Amino acid sequence: MAQRDYVIDQLISAKAIAARIEALAREIETHFGGTEKLIVVGLLRGSFVFIADLVRELNMNVEVDFLEATSYGDSTVSSREVRILKDLRGQIGGRDVLVVEDIVDTGFTLSHVTRMLLSRNPKRLETIALLDKPSRREVDIRATWTGFEIPDEFVVGYGIDYAQRNRNLPYIGKVRFTD
Ligand code: IMP
Ligand code: MG
Repeated sequence: MAQRDYVIDQLISAKAIAARIEALAREIETHFGGTEKLIVVGLLRGSFVFIADLVRELNMNVEVDFLEATSYGDSTVSSREVRILKDLRGQIGGRDVLVVEDIVDTGFTLSHVTRMLLSRNPKRLETIALLDKPSRREVDIRATWTGFEIPDEFVVGYGIDYAQRNRNLPYIGKVRFTD
């Protein structure tokens, strides 16, 4: 697909994201209170900024691991087939696990990943998504915690890309095509 012309309009400020992450971290600490160590699993690549900020807000022992599943490629259209490109390095059997996702859109990615990780018999497995687009859902799934519900817009920034660009924006913006 040829690169289209677009501008980015800010949707969620860096300050609003930071405040929301602080509140979510308190809920996660309460939920997993008393755990020896929480295994925080980031879904590559979109969650890398979110997981970095989230773990630094958590006052508990954490281990960080990463999983990579296929996403959109360079298009804005979701594919239903989810493949695992990079598996976890560590074991999760009998452990407390938190899966960190950037966006739940159709829900195919999170439902596939959750099912696969549950088959490894973690003690507890919860999920957190920075963004949720409930109007786009095709699979009946919800993250345990959600940062922000957003309308059906294509967003970038704070780790999230469009054709591998704009991950480094400190805020969440929506893509507005101008061509
Ligand atoms: P799902 O499987 O349809 O729920 O898609 C989830 C994945 O699609 C997310 O992890 C993102 O990588 C990608 N995605 C969904 N919406 C957007 C968006 O607005 N911008 C960039 N990537 C998105
Ligand atoms: Mg993704």
